[in-house]
Amino acid sequence: MKLTGNTILITGGSSGIGFEMARQFLQKGNEVIITGRDGKKLHNAEQQLDGVAIIRSDVSNPDNIKELYQQIVNDFPGLNILINNAGILQTLNLRDGNLPAADLTKEIDINLKGTILMNNAFLPLLQHSNNPAIVNVSSGLAFVPLPIAPVYCSAKAAIHSYSLSLRAQLRNTGIKVFELSPPLTETGMLGGFNEEDIKGVPIMPVEEMVTGFLNGFAKDNYEIRLGVANQLWFMSRFFPKFIFAQLSKSINRLL
Ligand SMILES: NC(=O)c1ccc[n+]([C@@H]2O[C@H](COP(=O)([O-])OP(=O)(O)OC[C@H]3O[C@@H](n4cnc5c(N)ncnc54)[C@H](OP(=O)(O)O)[C@@H]3O)[C@@H](O)[C@H]2O)c1
Repeated sequence: MKLTGNTILITGGSSGIGFEMARQFLQKGNEVIITGRDGKKLHNAEQQLDGVAIIRSDVSNPDNIKELYQQIVNDFPGLNILINNAGILQTLNLRDGNLPAADLTKEIDINLKGTILMNNAFLPLLQHSNNPAIVNVSSGLAFVPLPIAPVYCSAKAAIHSYSLSLRAQLRNTGIKVFELSPPLTETGMLGGFNEEDIKGVPIMPVEEMVTGFLNGFAKDNYEIRLGVANQLWFMSRFFPKFIFAQLSKSINRLL
């Protein structure tokens, strides 16, 4: 992929990885639109990112997606890259029989269903654009679950599987399908963990993570696994029981 002259929509671009992607893509001469649920966060991002366009939109809301699509078709008809980055993480105690249903499945709705619905909605536009690409953001935890975040990891494993199928199905359309699997990255999302849950795991600065992503993207590396995410992928193939036992230690605090 070329790294300049694109029109890029990044879901969840008001903070963390999406924000840094927007910053680096803008620096390289791309048109960038970011979304998020919280208008205040979006306006803050707008003030920090010269030239960015912001649209308030929730990926878990199909009506919001329809409206977003119409707005993009009207205002940014040259859109050629969709980055499905929006996501949340929750630690959940599955032994608690009283968890509200909405909490239990929130990560499915946002991280997984949101990605699938966004791709479905934007396919007609991408099919007719120049150098089109979809980037689905999964995680190193797509390859080995961290049991303290059970639904998050299920959604990310599903994103990995879905990305393989999407790439196979879009093979002759010209739309390139990328999967970015970040390692533990320094963003607000880490606040969802207890310190013990991620003890000893290196945390990658967000600038470094996004630079690594852009390098892989430029080389058409369709599965971009950085740092610990690549190690988790390797371990899941060759030492699956060992690595799962390591990641299971954090549930001790729930028992
Ligand atoms: N940080 C890590 O260690 C790490 C590791 C692996 C993978 N990832 C993945 O990287 C992606 C970005 O995470 P991050 O670390 O940058 O987290 P973050 O700093 O919390 O940013 C998440 C972004 O997503 C937006 N968002 C959340 N729910 C949304 C929804 N329903 N609709 C639209 N936007 C929504 C948030 O804005 P609002 O809250 O205002 O909507 C925010 O802009 C996620 O998919 C995450 O799973 C992160």
